[in-house]
Amino acid sequence: MNTVIELLQNRVSSPKLTAPAPNSAELEQILACAVRAPDHARLKPWQFHVISGQALSKLGEIFARAVGEGVAQDKLDKCRNMPLRAPLMIVATCEPQENAKVPALEQFLAVGAAIQNMQVAISSLGYGSIWRTGEMAHLSEVKDAFGLSSAGEIVGFIYVGTPEKLPSKPVTNLSDCVKYWD
Ligand SMILES: Cc1cc2nc3c(=O)[nH]c(=O)nc-3n(C[C@H](O)[C@H](O)[C@H](O)COP(=O)(O)O)c2cc1C
Repeated sequence: MNTVIELLQNRVSSPKLTAPAPNSAELEQILACAVRAPDHARLKPWQFHVISGQALSKLGEIFARAVGEGVAQDKLDKCRNMPLRAPLMIVATCEPQENAKVPALEQFLAVGAAIQNMQVAISSLGYGSIWRTGEMAHLSEVKDAFGLSSAGEIVGFIYVGTPEKLPSKPVTNLSDCVKYWD
């Protein structure tokens, strides 16, 4: 992969991730790419929580508590182990601000663009990632743990590491989604 075009056209998500994760210098680069995402009025509606080591287990406990006591033990275990699927997680959150020109939707989109910048940066450094959300992203106990108000959202749990094996890239057919206007 030596050009941005090649990188963008060949990037794939990696559901199976292992150590090593990017080191701290690489992580700084990845986060610096995140904050260069397009962001209407430069509101910086994002926060990035970097979670690794013991903190992944702490997040797993938060997931297990949030899902509630009434659920089956295997679901509790599954939730507790979710963050352990990669050696590093970056949780991207959006706290939309009141702004006359920039609706909340555009602020969420800016955080999505930041995530995409990170995923491309991660690939370019030779690592893998996957953007996940799911039930945990929407539980109020989990949102509270990230200091979000009721208007704020977890936009993505970005699992980061070294791909165990790269999934093959599906073939895309541009004619399915592109229309050229006369
Ligand atoms: C907002 C958002 C949420 C997602 N949530 C999940 C998820 O919870 N679990 C999952 O397996 N994939 C999720 N995905 C999809 C993966 O990140 C990935 O894009 C998908 O597996 C397709 O793989 P590809 O990126 O290699 O094309 C989500 C994607 C987006 C944009």
